[in-house]
Amino acid sequence: MDQLLVALDVDTAAEARALANTLRGLVGGFKIGSRLFTSQGPSIVEELAGRGDRVFLDLKFHDIPNTVAGAVAAGTRLGAWMINVHASGGAAMMRAARKAADEESARRSRPRPLLVAVTVLTSLNDQALFEVGITPDAAEQVARLAALAQATGLDGVVASPKEIAVIRRRCGKSFAIVTPGIRGAADLKSDQDRTMSAQDALAEGATYLVVGRPIIAAADPRAAAEKLVMECRAAKTS
Ligand code: C5P
Repeated sequence: MDQLLVALDVDTAAEARALANTLRGLVGGFKIGSRLFTSQGPSIVEELAGRGDRVFLDLKFHDIPNTVAGAVAAGTRLGAWMINVHASGGAAMMRAARKAADEESARRSRPRPLLVAVTVLTSLNDQALFEVGITPDAAEQVARLAALAQATGLDGVVASPKEIAVIRRRCGKSFAIVTPGIRGAADLKSDQDRTMSAQDALAEGATYLVVGRPIIAAADPRAAAEKLVMECRAAKTS
């Protein structure tokens, strides 16, 4: 299922490789975030991308524009298919990221990576936002940041499935919405707060689903992914 991206939130390249080998062909790509990247470095990104896997480099860059541009260019050189930045880094930072991705991919004659912006982390609720001084509620803050990301030329956003409707209204049909925080009724929510089932997120209009622990922490990750894919297909045809 092309829309399903699995978060390889593990410590070693061996574990990541084993998960990718188990899930390849069934899922649409693999997300490499700060945990695996910090422990194993960029070689695992290059390795999977070199095998033809779609790799979402989830390092959520948030820094001054020049630094983020350099990091996005480096991710583009690694062969990442999708890269993200924090929308709250501001318009100039997002424009610099866009320019870097476009120029570096053109220089290397390879497809330009999708560039998406994190709006509000799916682990944060309204109370947690208030504590860090953000007074609009999560939905309003997400809509504002999504509109800003779109205006600066980004391809989409990362947001909770609960905010898909508000983003679709504000940004239209072709703007990509990547949604973590996917949980079935039987799954543990863990640290995620604004969650939804995979079927409901697709019905709301998610472009891509990011699923970590419900698949990678299952006793049989392939069986867990197959079950989720089957449930999504059944929901689509019903
Ligand atoms: O294990 P779980 O399904 O909660 O994994 C979700 C993944 O998506 C994690 O790798 C997390 O870092 C990432 N993510 C998120 N919320 C965001 C952006 C990324 O949960 N807003």
